[in-house]
Amino acid sequence: MKTIVVAQQKGGVGKTTLVINIALYFSQTGADVAIADADAQGSLTATADVLEGLRLVSIKDVLQGKVKADIIIIDTSPRNDKDLPAVLALADFVLIPVKPGYLDVLALKDTQTILEQAGTQKAGIVLNMVQHRNALTREVKELLQRFSIPVLTTQIFQRVAYTRSTMTNGVFGSDDVKAQAEIENLADEILENL
Ligand SMILES: Nc1ncnc2c1ncn2[C@@H]1O[C@H](COP(=O)(O)OP(=O)(O)O)[C@@H](O)[C@H]1O
Ligand SMILES: [Mg+2]
Repeated sequence: MKTIVVAQQKGGVGKTTLVINIALYFSQTGADVAIADADAQGSLTATADVLEGLRLVSIKDVLQGKVKADIIIIDTSPRNDKDLPAVLALADFVLIPVKPGYLDVLALKDTQTILEQAGTQKAGIVLNMVQHRNALTREVKELLQRFSIPVLTTQIFQRVAYTRSTMTNGVFGSDDVKAQAEIENLADEILENL
């Protein structure tokens, strides 16, 4: 059993979107996947109702070790709320979505501190909502070199297929093969780290 936690101390960076798509991808490869929502705002809980083939479990059950699955993927809050240290303590890998922007890099400082406090061993930054032909991405990648957390090779571009992914049961229910390839590559990179 492996636990993947998606965390970043900033809202709107794609945590919930990536949880959904990675979970759907792993479950399509035949893995027994459970997803859990550690964000009190409940976006994942709300979308799980309309997603097919995903098992939503309670974060309480996960923390109490009651959930059995091949892979558990946990969505988290952009605030350092009380459950976060315990959730991070369970993680085999922490995925940190970062949007190419300076405030997003600033938020990463807080995330890194929290991960250090939790004793997280393995984490990776994924650039999300990358825009084509935008010099900012390169600048942000340079800034990210200052952090000890590695930046994953896979980049997730800004695509309508992600925005619509709760309506299409993930990007795999859309016809956007580029988005599908990105999620597949991201999932493979996560697996290499587990
Ligand atoms: N790669 C992407 N391309 C386009 N839209 C995206 C992408 N990733 C996320 N979004 C959209 O951005 C918004 C915020 O994403 P969300 O997953 O809710 O972030 P968080 O969980 O970090 O708050 C949502 O409307 C989502 O559909
Ligand atoms: Mg969210």
